[in-house]
Amino acid sequence: MIEINELKKTFQTEKQFVHAINGVNLRIEDGEIFGVVGYSGAGKSTLVRCINFLEVPDEGSITISGFGTYTARNGKLYHKDEGSDKETPATDKQLRALRRSIGMIFQHFNLLDRSTVFENIAYPLKYTGMSKEDIAARVTELLELVDLSEKVNAYPSELSGGQKQRVAIARALANNPKILLSDEATSALDPDVTESILKLLKDLNKKLGLTIVLITHEMAVVKSICSRMAVMENGKVVEEGNVYDVFADPQAGSTRRFVNASFGINNLEKLTETGVVNVTSNSKLIRLTFDRASVGEALISEVSRKFDVNLNIVLANVEILQDAPLGGIIILAKGEKENVLAAIDYFRSCSVKVEVIADGMA
Ligand SMILES: Nc1ncnc2c1ncn2[C@@H]1O[C@H](COP(=O)(O)OP(=O)(O)OP(=O)(O)O)[C@@H](O)[C@H]1O
Ligand SMILES: [Mg+2]
Repeated sequence: MIEINELKKTFQTEKQFVHAINGVNLRIEDGEIFGVVGYSGAGKSTLVRCINFLEVPDEGSITISGFGTYTARNGKLYHKDEGSDKETPATDKQLRALRRSIGMIFQHFNLLDRSTVFENIAYPLKYTGMSKEDIAARVTELLELVDLSEKVNAYPSELSGGQKQRVAIARALANNPKILLSDEATSALDPDVTESILKLLKDLNKKLGLTIVLITHEMAVVKSICSRMAVMENGKVVEEGNVYDVFADPQAGSTRRFVNASFGINNLEKLTETGVVNVTSNSKLIRLTFDRASVGEALISEVSRKFDVNLNIVLANVEILQDAPLGGIIILAKGEKENVLAAIDYFRSCSVKVEVIADGMA
């Protein structure tokens, strides 16, 4: 478990103070893949860099299973063992041990260009007291784990992006960490390579019980492998929850924009502005979101008949999220005003979320 309480981090630049992390509370359970999304500058990287204390927070505390609680006051770090009340200044030794237990991967891989794949992966094992033979055996094992055994003697410049990230993952796992922090690890990769890296992360999560904190600005990545997620904005968590629930019913403005973009429907106004869809005075353009509890098509024809409204499907999309269907349908509802309103009420009573996008009857 990683528990973050009232975390704050401010950077001072020449001109101003930047409140990169401004009171974050978050709880990440052991063995989960937790997604953190947010626009550029939201504070995502700073937050994960605080989890392994690459960045020392100004205020707040972080508790990590097996490592006790680290509390920051005025930029100074104190440590308390699990179940103890005694707080002492955090030592470099403690922080080194903690960092060894938390792996990290990055967008640009951060490999040593002049070292081979073997040397890159062996690097974090160098000062652990392991013998040369044991290190070699461990590197072999790690290369098998990331399916890259044949590249053991290659240099980074001889590898594809996906292969470089596999090396970085192997290196991050060298010391058997329980936690892996991933900062935009797939952002520089093609979609199909991204998919293979996400599959690898998912496999490692299952096989090793690895907890993964995954930062990304791509909702597709979150949809594909995360179980829970948080959305950050201006150094704060503005939304947190089960991935399915967040996608089915996003609350915060930036979450809506992310979710809509991921369903490819951020430009709904364009449908009406360009006249592709004509919202006449007897119609409303509405968006229906169907979740696990409600199934789309059948209900639409039922409602159309029952309330004598014409329901034209403009756009429809169904995705499988966490093994459950999540559907979004945009329809143009045409008919008598009271009938259209009754139809909307009926949709709502069937636990379908209804949003009016454009209203010709208003
Ligand atoms: N070392 C630093 N010195 C000064 N300001 C910083 C520093 N690191 C981060 N910041 C500022 O803190 C804010 C949060 O930055 P951070 O890198 O955490 O955002 P992010 O969400 O990871 O963004 P991106 O998606 O672009 O990577 C930004 O305004 C950034 O400019
Ligand atoms: Mg970042």
